Amino acid sequence: MATVEEQEVGQQLVTAHPGDPCTIVIFGASGDLTKRKLIPAIYNLLRTKFMPERFAVLGVSIDNFTDESFREQLSGEVSQYATEKVDRDLWKTFVSRLYYFGGNFQDPELFAGLKAKLGAIDKEQDTPGNYLFYLATAPQFFGEIVRQLGDAGLSRQEGNHWRRVIIEKPFGRDLDSAQALNREVKSVLAENQIYRIDHYLGKETVQNMLVFRFGNGIFEPIWNRRYIDHVQITAAETVGVEERGGYYETSGALRDMVPNHMMQLVSMTGMEPPLSFDSEAVRDEKAKLLHAIQVASPEEVLTRAVRGQYDAGTEDNHPVPAYRHEPHVNPDSQVETYAALELHIDNWRWAGVPFYIRTGKRLQKRATEITIQFKRAPKLLFQEAGVERMTANMLVVRIQPDEGISLRFSAKVPGPSVKIGSVDMNFQYSHYFGTAPSTGYETLLLDCMIGDPTLFQRDDMVEAGWRVITPVLDVWKALPPRDFPNYRSGTWGPKEADHLLEREGRYWRDVD
Ligand code: BG6
Repeated sequence: MATVEEQEVGQQLVTAHPGDPCTIVIFGASGDLTKRKLIPAIYNLLRTKFMPERFAVLGVSIDNFTDESFREQLSGEVSQYATEKVDRDLWKTFVSRLYYFGGNFQDPELFAGLKAKLGAIDKEQDTPGNYLFYLATAPQFFGEIVRQLGDAGLSRQEGNHWRRVIIEKPFGRDLDSAQALNREVKSVLAENQIYRIDHYLGKETVQNMLVFRFGNGIFEPIWNRRYIDHVQITAAETVGVEERGGYYETSGALRDMVPNHMMQLVSMTGMEPPLSFDSEAVRDEKAKLLHAIQVASPEEVLTRAVRGQYDAGTEDNHPVPAYRHEPHVNPDSQVETYAALELHIDNWRWAGVPFYIRTGKRLQKRATEITIQFKRAPKLLFQEAGVERMTANMLVVRIQPDEGISLRFSAKVPGPSVKIGSVDMNFQYSHYFGTAPSTGYETLLLDCMIGDPTLFQRDDMVEAGWRVITPVLDVWKALPPRDFPNYRSGTWGPKEADHLLEREGRYWRDVD
């Protein structure tokens, strides 16, 4: 089969170049995200020559490291978390640019000391005073750290240097708290200094949705209510809450996955074509789509939202405990580990086309995918031949794993009688492009170093996501579930989620 290069379609839309010289300051440097994702991602950027020649990384946390012991700690862990074998010389270069500063995030002295340390690093590494602050801390510190950065004069952009802040999720717990956090950070920073990260947007297949829809002529004309019956978006995990019971108890599946990751998938699927690939043009269209999602009334929440919690069961044929028996979880916990919603989008393109979304832990298969289910053919030509119900065409965009796109259609099964079968035309990413080892954070870090916010959430997008979710949270809080746990580990979740579609004669796609 011809490769992409042979077909000469490998045109580059945007030329990638290394980030600006800068120091990346990671708050929460001894946490999980730093060692699992951020350090391996920066290493990958160095390996692929996307780190600027002049850079430094400064870890900040409450722990008592020195530069030396921090370097040793990360050197001991890197091979465990790197996405491929670590090159010793390259790692040595990286380590010589690693620094540490310890203290309490609430203490102004930390920030005064940090300012002095950053000045010293700029001299030592010849970095020009550009600082990327990465807030990889517990969410209660986000506002505080930004305020302290402002008070210490670290957020001010003067002369030629920039100051940018990446804020991890969760950005708020509901609409009010997200608005309050937006107000707080925007009292210190301009919107173009704030990079609200959603790691789903670092996934190639999520970014590809824009190219797939707007880089091809044949899909957009049928991408609307005339041809599409409904849309399904699934983000299913086989893992349980693992060691994160403490966090999950304060969050639950809805807050953890829906206002951020799932809303990104909804907006990529439903948005109008942007005027250009300019960051604001793209984000404007995504925000418009999110604002067009109907906010459910309490009565509608009862019929359009389903929650679940996993019971004991199996994962990969191994017995696994119920959520209530996981570490750091309340034995009577009412927290949901599964959520499904029926969303309606009030605009011309999507009126009457439901978007069903579902996400959960300890489900049967790990799969994130978007299914576009088209309307059936208008006339059943083959009834006389005994073919009563033709399956509808279905386009499946597989985000992970097994990244790719497939189109399902009907074909005649060979033989003397008219028998119709469903077949798939299948594109697999790895087949055409191979696989590049990545943590998923590389593109996002590079974009921030370059100053391109396209793949980050703007204030109005975050708030629009919470606007949709908050009424569901309110109803769920007012009416505690009576049937938890209500699905076995290793299954596809509570049966009520099937009813959500079945009452309209629809079914969740069999994720095979
Ligand atoms: C995180 C959630 O944001 O996304 C986790 O907090 C979830 O609970 C994870 O497991 C899923 O990400 P991915 O990239 O594995 O699909």
